[in-house]
Amino acid sequence: MNMKKYTNITDVSNLQEIIKEAILLKMNPYEFQDLGKNKTLVMLFFNASLRTRLSTEKAAKNLGMNVMILNVNDAWNLEFEDGTIMNANTSEHIKEAAQVISQYADVIAVRAFPSLTDKKLDESERIMSSFIKYASVPIVNMESATAHPLQALADAITISELAEKAKPKVVLSWAPHPKALPQAVANSFVEMMQNMDVDLSITHPEGYELNQAITKNTSIHYNQEEALKDADFVYVKNWSNYKDYGKVLNQDENWMMTKAKLGKAKFMHCLPVRRNLVVEDAVLDGENSVVIQQANNRTFSAQIVLKQILENL
Ligand code: CP
Repeated sequence: MNMKKYTNITDVSNLQEIIKEAILLKMNPYEFQDLGKNKTLVMLFFNASLRTRLSTEKAAKNLGMNVMILNVNDAWNLEFEDGTIMNANTSEHIKEAAQVISQYADVIAVRAFPSLTDKKLDESERIMSSFIKYASVPIVNMESATAHPLQALADAITISELAEKAKPKVVLSWAPHPKALPQAVANSFVEMMQNMDVDLSITHPEGYELNQAITKNTSIHYNQEEALKDADFVYVKNWSNYKDYGKVLNQDENWMMTKAKLGKAKFMHCLPVRRNLVVEDAVLDGENSVVIQQANNRTFSAQIVLKQILENL
C-alpha cells in the first residue's frame, strides 16, 4: 500500500487488506502510538461536524499525532479564483493559505460541502483540488462536494464485520428530507460497494438518479419494496436531486424506512439522521440498527488512512 493522500476511494489500492488492517487496529488501537510522534494533523472545517471531527481527532491521537483544528469560517475568507482582483469579501488566497498551513502540518484534512447551486463548480471539487494543488503535505477528505470516502470506508468495515454470507445483498435506499442534502455519502458508498463482493442495488423515486458516471451499471429500482426483498443490509440516505441540481422535488413520506420494510436486514445510516422522517424510531431503536457501530468505525477508517499516510511520509 502506498497511500499519499485520501481524497477519493480510488486512493485505496487494496481494499480487502485495508479493511482487515482496520479491524485489527480496532482490537489494538494504540499499537502504533509512536508512528505519529512529533507529527501534526491539521483539520480544516468549512462546515459542521460531530462524528468526523471527533473520530478523526481520536484516530490521530491513537497514532500519537498532535492535532490542530480550525473552523475556517472563523479565519480569513479564502479566495480560490486565479487572477482575481481581491477587492471584495476574500482576504487571503488559497495559494498562500495552503502553503502556510503545510508548514504547521504533516497531514491536512479538509471538510468542504458543495454549494448545491452550481453543479459545475461542485463537480470541480474546487476547495479539495486547491488544497491538493497548493499544499505540500498529504490531504485527507473529511467530506467534500461529491465524496465522503472516510464514511464509505467505515461503512465497508461495518459490512465486513457483520456479513453472514459471502456475498450479502446491500441496498441503498433514498429517504425524504426537507433540506437539500449533498450526494457525497451516497456517491462514495456506491463506489465503495462496487469494489466489495456484495450484490448492490439502489432504490429511489424516479428522477432521483445519482451521477451515472458513479452508478455505472449498478441496478436501480423505483419500487422500494421490491428492491428491499431479501436485503441483508439497507443503507438509508437522502440526497437532493442531481439532475435538477440541488432541488428538493420529492418529500414523499412513503419512502421513510420502517421496521416492516426493513425486515431482517441490518439498518445503516451515516448519521446525523432525522427520526420519523428518514427512519422511524422502531428501526433506530431496534436490534437491527448498526448505526452506532458504524459511527464507531469512523475512528478506525480514519486511523488506517492516517497510518498508511504516516508510513509514506
Ligand atoms: N457521518 C458524518 O460525517 O457525520 P458528521 O457530519 O457529524 O461528521
